[in-house]
Amino acid sequence: MKEVARQGASSRRSFLRNSFIAAAGAMAAPMLTRAAEGDPNILGNPPWTTSLGMPVAANPYGLPSKYERNLVRRESPGLTRVSGSSVAFTPLQGLFGIITPSGLHFERHHQGWHDVDPSKHRLMINGSEPGFLKTAKVYTMDDIMRLPSVSRIHFIECGANTGMEWGNVAVPTVQYSHGMLSCSEFTGVPLRLLLEDCGVDFRKCRYVLAEGADGSSMTRTIPMEMVESGEVFVAYGMNGEMLRPENGYPLRLVVPGVQGVSWVKWLRRIEVGDKPWATKDEAVHYIDLLPDGQHRQYTSVQECKSVITSPSGGQMLLDTGFYNVTGIAWSGRGKVTRVDVSFDGGVNWQVARLEGPIQSKALTRFNVNWVWDGKPAILQSRAVDETGYVQPSYGQLRAVRGTKSIYHNNAIQSWKVSETGEVSNVQVL
Ligand code: MTE
Repeated sequence: MKEVARQGASSRRSFLRNSFIAAAGAMAAPMLTRAAEGDPNILGNPPWTTSLGMPVAANPYGLPSKYERNLVRRESPGLTRVSGSSVAFTPLQGLFGIITPSGLHFERHHQGWHDVDPSKHRLMINGSEPGFLKTAKVYTMDDIMRLPSVSRIHFIECGANTGMEWGNVAVPTVQYSHGMLSCSEFTGVPLRLLLEDCGVDFRKCRYVLAEGADGSSMTRTIPMEMVESGEVFVAYGMNGEMLRPENGYPLRLVVPGVQGVSWVKWLRRIEVGDKPWATKDEAVHYIDLLPDGQHRQYTSVQECKSVITSPSGGQMLLDTGFYNVTGIAWSGRGKVTRVDVSFDGGVNWQVARLEGPIQSKALTRFNVNWVWDGKPAILQSRAVDETGYVQPSYGQLRAVRGTKSIYHNNAIQSWKVSETGEVSNVQVL
């Protein structure tokens, strides 16, 4: 009998029985064997078949099964000095499809989070100079929520995602290596519409500054072309309900394809101006140190990237045989068009199945069949986007970027499977 493992719910390295094999019919013989041996799970009547279940609305807001309790956001011990200015990573290894459950959406705060009272929240739109707009305005949440809305699925990735791996392997699991990444359906109002409402002079104003209401003075410059395209919106909804407090309730900016820092949370002010502001979070932080010692600024688009989420670091293959290898791919420049997967560290590649519909600047789920023969293997995925850009190897990326950066590491991830079935994080140039 063939079984597959992934990092599961009941212990850090617990194992998932491979139910799809049953669907494929391959389970028939082993199941009979078990029954003959007297498997109580088949022969007996468990309590849930012989007693009255829980009433409706026992949990007015539904919760995951207690057997899934280990699938949670996790903070990396020692990453930052205080938890108020830190990261909680999404457990990518245990998720399916492309939508991140709201309770597992990663968190990145510079100065902690608050549950902001929506009746007291305001969004102000003003200009850097008189004449940049006709009327500066202040909107309440009620004002915003009666305007024409859009709902769109987009990924958000912190620019620092995979940032610990620039020099060498640093973390054991995909949760820590790639978990500053989530994907949700966001609902809100295009920023262009609000700027038009204020009578912004789009000829003079080629930039906007977004400011958050938390204590971190989070401010980011966004080029006006992005706003004019209609893609940037002020969002109050996430996955069909209001934003979660940790993710900016009641209002955040959604800047599709752009690194997470520009998705300003608890959005309280938009200023229109004629040049970038060079604020602390774009002139000093969120910059890329290049090998020649220069700093690169305003590199905000997240380039094409992918990662195999199962099997991945910290998991264990229980047996040889068939496995569905699965992962996610994304590009800040549009749609993912292809994902190649290698089982021998990049010598041979095969094309993975992409789950549709493929959406622009959203995660794309890929799957590929694999029969493990019990020998050591190195699993990799390499994504290509609609611009033709191909996700680079560590060798290619380091040749241009060196090893001293923090942000925008989109190198090909390698997972090594040892003869014992243990999966670990390795780097292949
Ligand atoms: N907005 C405010 N006001 N304060 C913050 O600390 N963090 C930024 C961005 N917006 C931040 C913010 C960073 S660095 C990222 S990666 C994303 O929010 C994280 O969004 P999330 O916490 O919803 O995942």
